[in-house]
Parts: sequence; C-alpha cells; structure tokens
Amino acid sequence: MGSLNNKRVLLGVTGGIAAYKSAELIRCLQGEGAEVRVVMTPAATEFITPLTLQALSGNPVSLKLLDTAAEAAMGHIELARWADLILVAPASADFIARLCHGEGNDLLSTVCLASHSMIAVAPAMNKHMWENAATQQNLQLLREHAIHIFGPASGYQACGDRGEGRMEAPASLCTMASNLFVSGLLSGKKIVITAGPTREALDPVRYISNHSSGKMGYALAQAAVAAGATTVLVSGPVQLEPPERVKTITVESAAEMLNATLNEVGGADIFIAAAAVADYRPASIAEQKIKKNDDDMFLQLIKNPDIVATVAALPKRPLTVGFAAETENLEHHATLKLHKKNLDLVIANDVSDAEIGFNSDDNRVLLVQPSSSKALPTMNKHLLANKLIEHIASLLDTPPKIPLS
Ligand code: PMT
Repeated sequence: MGSLNNKRVLLGVTGGIAAYKSAELIRCLQGEGAEVRVVMTPAATEFITPLTLQALSGNPVSLKLLDTAAEAAMGHIELARWADLILVAPASADFIARLCHGEGNDLLSTVCLASHSMIAVAPAMNKHMWENAATQQNLQLLREHAIHIFGPASGYQACGDRGEGRMEAPASLCTMASNLFVSGLLSGKKIVITAGPTREALDPVRYISNHSSGKMGYALAQAAVAAGATTVLVSGPVQLEPPERVKTITVESAAEMLNATLNEVGGADIFIAAAAVADYRPASIAEQKIKKNDDDMFLQLIKNPDIVATVAALPKRPLTVGFAAETENLEHHATLKLHKKNLDLVIANDVSDAEIGFNSDDNRVLLVQPSSSKALPTMNKHLLANKLIEHIASLLDTPPKIPLS
C-alpha cells in the first residue's frame, strides 16, 4: 500500500478532452491505497462514460444534484463529508470560475461548497484560456482559499496549440495528492497513541466495556506516521486493520494498556490518549462463568489507574494530550480535566451526539488549552486527525509543562 493508504479521494471530472485520463488517474490513486469515488459534471459525460469510471472505481458514479435515489444513499452532503481530498481533474476554466465564486449549480460544485476536506484542482484547458487574466485571477482567489492547484503541464494540446494548459499526467497528480498528506512535520519525533475501548473482565466470558471503535485513535496514528513520526499505537480490542508503518500493540484491559504505554512512552515526544479507558474494573474476576442464581446481582468495582495522568506525572514527560468525552458542558468539563490531569491540550468531543464521537466516521471537537480554546467544525475523522497532528506539532515549540508534584 502507498501513501494514500486509507484515504478517501473524491475525483471530480469536468468537461474537457483530458477527461479520458481520469480512468488512469483512478488506477494510480487506488495503487497508492486510496478509495475513490467519482462525481462527473454533465459536460464530462460527453468525453468519457460514467460506466467506465464506475467500473474502474468500483463505486457508483454520482452525476446529478437533484437525484432522489442518490440523495437517499450518498447525497451531496455525505459525499462532502466522506472525502479526505476532493481532486478535480480535469478542472475546466468554467468549473474553476464557478468554484471561485462559490456557485452550487451542479453536484460537483455543491460538494466542494459543502466540504471541509482538502480540495485540489488540476486545470486543463487551451493555453490562451489558461493565460487569460480572468482565469489567472480566479486561480489566485482559489489559492487564497487554500485550494491546491496541481499544474498545469506544458506541451502539445488537443487543439494543436503548444504551451501551458495540459492536465498534469495521472502519475504526477497522484504524487501531488500523496504529498498533501505527508507533511514531515513530525520527522524524527516519536509519538505514542492509545485507541479503542478497554475490556474489564467479570468472568471468562463477560466484560465491561464501551462503544469506542478506535477510529479516532487509528486516524491519529495514520496522520502521525504520514507526518513522519515514529508511531506506536496501543490499542484496545477493535475491528480495524493495524495502520501501515505503525507499531501496533494490542491490549484488553486498562492495566494492560497502562503497562504497554509506560513501556513505550520513555523517549517519546508526544503522547495522545484517545482510548476510552474503563474508569472502573470488577474488584475480582470470577474463575468460572458466573451462574444466574439470584434475582439481583451486585458488582464491586474498583478504580482503574488513569493512564494519561500517569504519563503527565512522569519526571520526563512528553507533550501530553488527552481527550474529553462529554455529554454536557463540554468546555467546562474539558478545562477541569486539563488542570486535574496536568495536560497540555484536551480535545473535547460531545459523545451524546450519535453523528460524531463514538463509532462514527465524523467528529467535532473543541481544543482546550490552559489559556485558549478553539472549536473545529464537524469533519471526517481522518481529516480531523491531520488537523490535530498539525496543531499538536505546533505545540512542541512551547516550553514543556512541569509535572505536578
Ligand atoms: O474510538 P471512536 O469510536 O472513534 O470514538 C472516539 C472517542 C469518542 C473514543 C474519542 O474521541 C474520545 O473521546 N476518547 C476519550 C474517551 C474517554 O475515555 O474520555 P474521558 O473523558 O472519560 O477521559 C479523559 C481522558 O483520560 C481521555 O484522554 C482518556 O483516554 C484518559 N483516560 C481515562 C481514564 C483512564 N483510566 N485512563 C485514561 O488515560
């Protein structure tokens, strides 16, 4: 698998002769590990059939904004949320102009408007259209809106002209897309991340646990490794594949998670506690399956060690980041956790909202630090993980906290 492993790329195809190269581009992106979905503008379907792109991408191709069947399955808002990257290739002069002015008059422009994901466009047009002042002004505006411009390349054009305006080759576009995810921000750094739930055994067949899927922690591990960090993931039991290039240690209980974390955290620069660790465990584990004899049953629970607080109290502590899973008064409770556990940053999420938090693909968080807080909008956990890693990397420059005595 390549550097787009587990990344979701929404390929937007607009009308232009270079649309035939989209077929090869899909293959390149998939070769780098990306899952690809395609949205075509009506003009694009004049150059290449949706059937071809559907067969290659392995997913239905989305064509219309006002399509009741599509809206029920993967409508424009879902597509906007699904993507880690929207890559428009080829991007016609007309589409660039419409994107630049925030128009939403077809599915692709609407998805771009509704998305918090990264967007990149690969211009493809005649050289005179490319050189036109209006096109250049539009591109400048897109750059100011943090939209990436890939290319164009220069050479012979379908119309017989020679010059700038050809769409970049699919392999180059793929490399440019990969580079968006590889920042090198954490080169030479070691990061340890906990993820998933813990299981606290009651007897040989039963346990106490929670609904954490591990998606948030695993996305952070992928973002950390993509940023160049030596990454260790200490994971409770989840249904996810271990991320590429990440040392993944699987554990069951909070006690095991603590041991694995302490074995790895020495020499680490950053520790992120994304796991939903059980606060309590049964005082004793029955050796045999507990029998159903009585109408009532009482369990005695004892407190588990707090892993993130233990790391924050180490004499040589890494930058220590905790999460706060709250159902009310997000900022207030997160601030209490920040101070009580002596953390550098708390990432607070509202786990009462089924659309975000536990076991969902999206999350919406509040970043709480000793002297500031910042809300981020709802977004896909992979995109959020990239933003969190970027933010956490920027905190490495601040002086380390002193462990509480
Ligand atoms: O896994 P997903 O389905 O993707 O869901 C993501 C998530 C909701 C689990 C994640 O975003 C999240 O909020 N993780 C922390 C969950 C949690 O246990 O929060 P808390 O508020 O109870 O704990 C505060 C912090 O202390 C957390 O960083 C937690 O990892 C840590 N902790 C808690 C108890 C304990 N014994 N040891 C700890 O280290």
